Amino acid sequence: MTGSNRPRGLVTIPMFAEVLDALAERFEIDAPCGTATHIDWTADTLAARAQGAAGLLVAGSPRIDAALLAAAPSLRAVCSMAVGYNNIDLPACTAAGVLVSNAPDVLTETTADFGFALMMATARRIAESEHFLRAGRWTHWAYAMFAGADVHGAMLGVLGMGRIGQAIARRGALGFGMPVIYHNRSRLPQAQEAPLGARWVDKATLLREADHLVLVLPYSKESHHAIGAAELALMKPTATLTNIARGGIVDDVALAQALRERRIAAAGLDVFEGEPALHPGLLEVPNVVLTPHIASASERTRRAMADLAAHNLIAALTGGTPPTPVNPSVLTLRQS
Ligand code: DGY
Repeated sequence: MTGSNRPRGLVTIPMFAEVLDALAERFEIDAPCGTATHIDWTADTLAARAQGAAGLLVAGSPRIDAALLAAAPSLRAVCSMAVGYNNIDLPACTAAGVLVSNAPDVLTETTADFGFALMMATARRIAESEHFLRAGRWTHWAYAMFAGADVHGAMLGVLGMGRIGQAIARRGALGFGMPVIYHNRSRLPQAQEAPLGARWVDKATLLREADHLVLVLPYSKESHHAIGAAELALMKPTATLTNIARGGIVDDVALAQALRERRIAAAGLDVFEGEPALHPGLLEVPNVVLTPHIASASERTRRAMADLAAHNLIAALTGGTPPTPVNPSVLTLRQS
């Protein structure tokens, strides 16, 4: 197809030039962010811009909901370059016959690397000691200076044992000799647990026994504030908490208070409720390592995520088979 007959695609995030070029070979592409500029989409702006679009390429934040679908009736596909898709109202998309895809697998190992690094930085007080050094406060060596918690041999707790959770457990068990306990809605088959020496426990046991607890569960109504004041109270005062999952899984107000009162030793947070805004209490405590939602941000992985989203979009709009659909029933209905 040429000119205005071609389907229109809206790319809502800054995107690699090569990916935009590949999309532009097939579609009329509206990419207001280009390769760099970020736009804070309001619902109205997104709805206006999505009018007439057959496909959207998105990432984490703009809400794709029934109101947007009503404003953009020609939409046939919403392809996200993130693995988490809690910003997308899946039932509404399925009801409207809109295919949704995400970008799993390609980020698993990179995200697990980061989760482990954040947990280690938290346990060994790397950020806190670096700030101290940069501030010119290092005057002498002392045996207790920034003494943290060991990672090797400590009890690793994983809440959410999907692909990324298992990759973190593998790092802990095989690389650092950590016994692993986990909690997940469904228990892994024995064949997956055994090589990790991983033990399924109920959530309260996980909280009580973990020395280093890493959160890797998807955000949903059910996981909202899965870690709040009551859960933090169950944790050891020496324990660390690392969240690379989603803001909203942790009650940041309760966490800031627990950190201030040293009810847990420290936290490493890559995601926040209402990000990019942060609960101010988190900025006031020293025993937290804060990063701006970058767990999957290696150059190679971000490119792989974008490529996968683009493949999904191209397949969805050209009658192909999208590699990673989230609601594949839409495709079956289209074919029937
Ligand atoms: C994901 O893929 O879900 C990451 O959190 C990036 O948004």
